[in-house]
Amino acid sequence: MRLSRFFLPTLKETPSEAQIASHRLMLRAGMIRQEAAGIYAWLPLGLRVLRKVEQIVREEMERAGAIELLMPTLQLADLWRESGRYDAYGPEMLRIKDRHERELLYGPTNEEMITEIVRASVRSYKDLPLNLYHIQWKFRDEQRPRFGVMRGREFLMKDAYSFDIDEASARAAYNRMFVAYLNTFSRMGLKAVPMRADTGPIGGDLSHEFIILAETGESAVFCHKDLVDMPAPGSDVDWFGDLQALVNARTGLYAATEEMHDPAAFQQVPEDKRLSARGIEVGHIFYFGEKYSAPMKAVAAGPDGVERPLQMGSYGVGVSRLLGAIIEANHDEAGVIWPEAVAPFNVGLINLRPGDPACDQACERAYAAIHASGQTALYDDTTERPGAKFAAMDLIGLPRQMIVGPKGLAEGNVEIKNRRTGERSIAPLQAVLDGLAADANTPQIPAS
Ligand SMILES: Nc1ncnc2c1ncn2[C@@H]1O[C@H](COP(=O)(O)OP(=O)(O)O)[C@@H](O)[C@H]1O
Ligand SMILES: [Mg+2]
Repeated sequence: MRLSRFFLPTLKETPSEAQIASHRLMLRAGMIRQEAAGIYAWLPLGLRVLRKVEQIVREEMERAGAIELLMPTLQLADLWRESGRYDAYGPEMLRIKDRHERELLYGPTNEEMITEIVRASVRSYKDLPLNLYHIQWKFRDEQRPRFGVMRGREFLMKDAYSFDIDEASARAAYNRMFVAYLNTFSRMGLKAVPMRADTGPIGGDLSHEFIILAETGESAVFCHKDLVDMPAPGSDVDWFGDLQALVNARTGLYAATEEMHDPAAFQQVPEDKRLSARGIEVGHIFYFGEKYSAPMKAVAAGPDGVERPLQMGSYGVGVSRLLGAIIEANHDEAGVIWPEAVAPFNVGLINLRPGDPACDQACERAYAAIHASGQTALYDDTTERPGAKFAAMDLIGLPRQMIVGPKGLAEGNVEIKNRRTGERSIAPLQAVLDGLAADANTPQIPAS
């Protein structure tokens, strides 16, 4: 993408309404724009990151056996009356009437709708296990929308729903999501800690929140330090085998959010391993059995021919919130520092003297070579002064910068800067182009 043809409305001033770094930086870097309290337009740069995060979530869901569909944002109130949640949900639900005076709502979650879809066709245990998910906008009329996309009113969520014939297989489904979540967050460069959580209005008896530690997190959390650096299980697990040991290794140590905190149990953790911190909830999984399937009569026949309500679980990831969480964990004074896996572009190519034939030609060659290698570049071909170009490129936080100026080029060199470490090195342009060409010839292994 050429910056001269892109839409990147960065802000020089720090917006006064933004209290935390990620909110400030998303506004300043031209990623989002607030349209109403807790409701944001996703500008092109922000959308590119949102799509990357979404794609990682999607790939890890599919790997764990979940199947994507897409449910609408608007739902009939009558569907929610079947579960009893229409009245129970309260003022967070946005209720709407159509021209025929039919009551609708903008979905805050989709348990009822997915149960309706599954009950219409699933008849037997042979149709199970089933895990269906979608990535769709939700609306919750939060009392205090704040911190930008962290607590929005309209936000993008991945929500998956599992259906099983008995409790044992439902717990296996829960474990698959537990492992998939750890892998998902790890691919984004995040260290997520699963913590025992309150089940809230969704209900049920088994629930974990996935928490990113951050000073600006909304929840107080308490955990054993060893959980923080425990590596993710990775994709090479026996997905439909027994994952219980992997889960146990991560649930055996103390970890709880404020609502579930048990100070006496926490005292049992060796003192030097006790961590009380703040965290951002990026995912939340629930097993709740028959809570929806029983009232909504979603049943299947078991091997004995007897019909029983399906055993269900639901699994949410805050896709749009993740952008805030990633930035909270990856930024400095100058701006965002994207982990490679979610960067909106891999390389920021800066032409210090557009109009100079040597600079223009070198940049064009580099720009083409970067794309040929399977990476993407944002090419600053504008006539801004160098200082402003450097500041903007640092602000938007692309992992690598390639800086092309007349002085270096006179000797055949360009400058490469690593955004995270700040390291700069001078390299011959030809060597850089050759390196990119070698990458282009390496067959790319698809992620899943
Ligand atoms: N208002 C919001 N803004 C952004 N993301 C949200 C919001 N509410 C929930 N999420 C994300 O969706 C995930 C699943 O939501 P859920 O656990 O049902 O919500 P909550 O914890 O608010 O009751 C959460 O873990 C969080 O990452
Ligand atoms: Mg939650």
